[in-house]
Amino acid sequence: MKKSLLLLFCAICSSAIAQKFEGLALTPPMGWNTWNTFSSNINEALIMQTADIMVKNGMRDAGYVYIVLDDTWSAMERDAHGNLVAHPEKFPSGMKALGDYLHERGFKFGIYNCAGKKTCGGFPGGWGHEFQDALKYAEWGVDYLKYDWCNSGDANPKDAYTRMRDGLYAAKRPIVFSICEWGGSKPWEWAAEVGHLWRTTGDITDCFDCKQRWEQGWKVIVDLQFSQVQPADGQNNGIGKYAGPGHWNDPDMLEVGRDGLTYAESRGHFALWCILAAPLMAGNDVRHMSPEITALITDKDAIAIDQDKLGKEGWRFRAEPGQEMWVRELSGGDWAVALLNTGKSTADLSIDFSHGWWFLGGNCAVRDVWDKKDAGTTEKKFTKRLDSHDAALLRLTPIKK
Ligand code: GLA
Repeated sequence: MKKSLLLLFCAICSSAIAQKFEGLALTPPMGWNTWNTFSSNINEALIMQTADIMVKNGMRDAGYVYIVLDDTWSAMERDAHGNLVAHPEKFPSGMKALGDYLHERGFKFGIYNCAGKKTCGGFPGGWGHEFQDALKYAEWGVDYLKYDWCNSGDANPKDAYTRMRDGLYAAKRPIVFSICEWGGSKPWEWAAEVGHLWRTTGDITDCFDCKQRWEQGWKVIVDLQFSQVQPADGQNNGIGKYAGPGHWNDPDMLEVGRDGLTYAESRGHFALWCILAAPLMAGNDVRHMSPEITALITDKDAIAIDQDKLGKEGWRFRAEPGQEMWVRELSGGDWAVALLNTGKSTADLSIDFSHGWWFLGGNCAVRDVWDKKDAGTTEKKFTKRLDSHDAALLRLTPIKK
């Protein structure tokens, strides 16, 4: 009797574990999303061209595998059975065919919907259709679902997202669940059990620190995410403590390579996203990308920092007029450091590791990630000339005695 109860208990726990799709997003998801550049101007030719280019330019092999169709991919109405259907003009071959195309080329297929009755763009939302939609996504071969929060009335976010998660579990296809609730209900406090990543703020746009009504520059987003829990400085990384393998804070998609940013601003942005263990979802038009941006976005050493398996999010260690220092603990005792020029002009910025860097635990070798050069040790000052809003990215490795 006891033995059978134990067996039953084990079966229940193992099914609960299997349901959580635990092996997914052990490092921050990487891919490409249609929204930042294309908004509603999407179609299957664009997606296929983008995938083909991402094979050729090295993005896929650098880890950008989730290709995500954001809002406006669906028809204006569900079909007679209440099923979501692809927009007939934009995606005439249908979603299953598009998913197959992506899978055949080594990508994973991502799609968007919304917890409310309609998406932000006014297309059919998932409210009340969660289990049915999850079955459809599984049938289409979807691997990633971004789930937005427009038109959700006074619904409780945790309940609404949990219902969609349960729909995904019931459909039994492992799907990365990206919660896009913009931080209003402090999703970092509840979402680790529900999804794999959660937005912490409103939308990003391609500027350094502009603030529009709903969209803001990457530095504004960084500051917002970092100040979500107080105090957030020194050794306290704000909401960073809620992130880890399988559950990530999401400061929104990359604006790297978009027109509103200088190259320096794209590089500063990328460095900070790597320090923050942020999902790296490219949002630029990869069909027209300069060699510098291609090299930046596929930089192996920067991506290795973002994807570090320890999964610890970094924090702002020091902020001074004109510069900020951000640090992130990595596996194997290494540290990543970003030195950001927040000023309006080019400047020589320095780090004096002899002041307050006790957590490094001893002398470290310094590697300049962008220049691919050794840059001495932490016993010496590190100095670099940085354009406005650029960031140096360093990897420190303890020198064993
Ligand atoms: C919201 C989200 C964005 C994008 C749009 C689509 O604003 O936060 O990331 O998905 O909706 O309408």
